[in-house]
Amino acid sequence: MSKLYDDVILDHIRNVRNYEVPADPDRSGEAINPLCGDSFQVYVKLDGERIEQVSFQCECCGIAMASASIMTGWLKGHTQREALEIKRRFVETVTARSTEALPGGPADHTAILQVVQASPARDGCAMLAWTALEQALAAD
Ligand code: FES
Repeated sequence: MSKLYDDVILDHIRNVRNYEVPADPDRSGEAINPLCGDSFQVYVKLDGERIEQVSFQCECCGIAMASASIMTGWLKGHTQREALEIKRRFVETVTARSTEALPGGPADHTAILQVVQASPARDGCAMLAWTALEQALAAD
């Protein structure tokens, strides 16, 4: 893993984005990583079908936190359907141990893909926020 990717991950840990519980979330979801027991909560505020804000709280490692921090910025403004499709493609890419950027994704997300390729056992960390997000959007 290159220093560039280390720096991206560290920035998302030190200056984590959207680490908060919003006052009145429209949706929320939880996930637990069965391998380590770490837990994750995602909160979604909606504007109609569109995602206005995604935020989170967790007891988790830095990789899970960085992945969530990137996810929250990525999904803002997307519809719920688009967000679930992005989740599906992200998980597919992580599972394939690919580092190929997803079309339209923020530059930062390839740092997570690099981590998983270098350390495949961290795939659960990378996907934890996305699992909680899917649960949030499924909760109607
Ligand atoms: Fe638990 Fe990464 S070690 S989520």
